[in-house]
Amino acid sequence: MNGIRIRPARVEDAEMLNELRRQPGVMEFTLGMPSERIADNRKYLENLGPDDHVLVAEAEGRVVGIAGLHVAGGKQRHVGHIGIAVHDDFQDRGIGRSLMQMLLDLADNYLGLVRAELEVQADNPRAIHLYESLGFEHEGRKRKEVFRGGRYVDHLIMGRLR
Ligand SMILES: CC(C)(COP(=O)(O)OP(=O)(O)OC[C@H]1O[C@@H](n2cnc3c(N)ncnc32)[C@H](O)[C@@H]1OP(=O)(O)O)[C@@H](O)C(=O)NCCC(=O)NCCS
Repeated sequence: MNGIRIRPARVEDAEMLNELRRQPGVMEFTLGMPSERIADNRKYLENLGPDDHVLVAEAEGRVVGIAGLHVAGGKQRHVGHIGIAVHDDFQDRGIGRSLMQMLLDLADNYLGLVRAELEVQADNPRAIHLYESLGFEHEGRKRKEVFRGGRYVDHLIMGRLR
């Protein structure tokens, strides 16, 4: 991946994160909304705690990808929830795979997590392919979980155990 740098997210990334999350191809497959405000993105970044591991991919001085591993607490201390998005103009170049690999390295080799899990819309073959190739298995389906483009879409639950 020439020219791509992966680093921890910063509060100053809020504006570029907003731009990324409002990309049509990102909004289609995430919970992002066209009305999402930079102030919301800044608050998200400001409120990240020690159990939130958020990385961004930077290219040409811009944030073009973001991925987070959020470790649960109490009896779910061994569980991490993952979310990811890559800017429309930078998809299919291996950035998502690199971000996921870094999060899974954190999960396996730094945090000792047993379970990594995520949810993905059932009609998102690119993401499903990526997760399957990294060892995520299909665990279930939440029917009509998201309202998108005037219709309801199912979410698939995927998990990877170590
Ligand atoms: C899903 C997403 C994170 C993947 O990141 P990316 O940088 O585009 O993906 P990568 O280039 O690392 O890998 C994509 C893989 O999917 C494959 N792929 C692309 N289109 C595909 C399709 N229609 N069907 C199946 N596989 C597909 C690619 O060949 C590649 O696989 P390979 O590495 O085995 O060749 C990114 O496309 C994205 O943010 N999409 C919009 C938002 C989203 O879906 N977020 C995830 C919500 S769960």
